[in-house]
Amino acid sequence: MSEPRQRVPMSSTQVTMMEIVMPNEANSMGNVFGGRVMALIDMAGAMSALRLCRMPVVTVSVDRIDFRAPIRVGEFIILHANVNYTGHTSLEVGVKVFGEHPLTGERRHTSTAYLTYVALDPAGKPAIIPQVVPETEEEQAWHAAAQERRARRLAQAK
Ligand SMILES: CC(C)(COP(=O)(O)OP(=O)(O)OC[C@H]1O[C@@H](n2cnc3c(N)ncnc32)[C@H](O)[C@@H]1OP(=O)(O)O)[C@@H](O)C(=O)NCCC(=O)NCCS
Repeated sequence: MSEPRQRVPMSSTQVTMMEIVMPNEANSMGNVFGGRVMALIDMAGAMSALRLCRMPVVTVSVDRIDFRAPIRVGEFIILHANVNYTGHTSLEVGVKVFGEHPLTGERRHTSTAYLTYVALDPAGKPAIIPQVVPETEEEQAWHAAAQERRARRLAQAK
């Protein structure tokens, strides 16, 4: 018989990353490149996935990402990541991105991204991961919404 899966509280998968946008990361209008934001999203997402799995993970899918407002050179870019849902070998991480003015503190929510990671065993095959446990009402809502997104995503991938 297989061992019961480990259970990990959702709150222990939280990751916050923060950087100042530098001129070499920006376009000629002084706004951070979308590709740079996407790289940071994937990094924050992978760290959150690693906090759950404690095994190597790879990105298998990224849902649509919208950039709703620019983040300018000299501003803070802040990313909050959280494992929303776990399947058997894959999991969804939600990443919220904010821009913050360093002097005024004014903060804008600029993007939300949902990424799917798969954990790999030493042979590079998908490996069974611990289950994430939502504890608060807010976490339960994230978990339920992620379950619906997973169903849609897998239907589309087919
Ligand atoms: C990740 C990888 C090993 C999965 O291989 P696979 O043969 O698709 O494996 P499976 O069919 O067993 O699926 C594994 C899990 O991924 C999920 N999955 C597969 N394709 C998916 C997709 N397009 N979107 C979301 N989830 C997906 C499956 O639902 C399954 O999850 P579950 O166990 O929780 O139900 C393989 O696709 C791969 O190596 N991809 C490249 C990853 C990579 O290098 N990423 C870096 C960027 S290039």
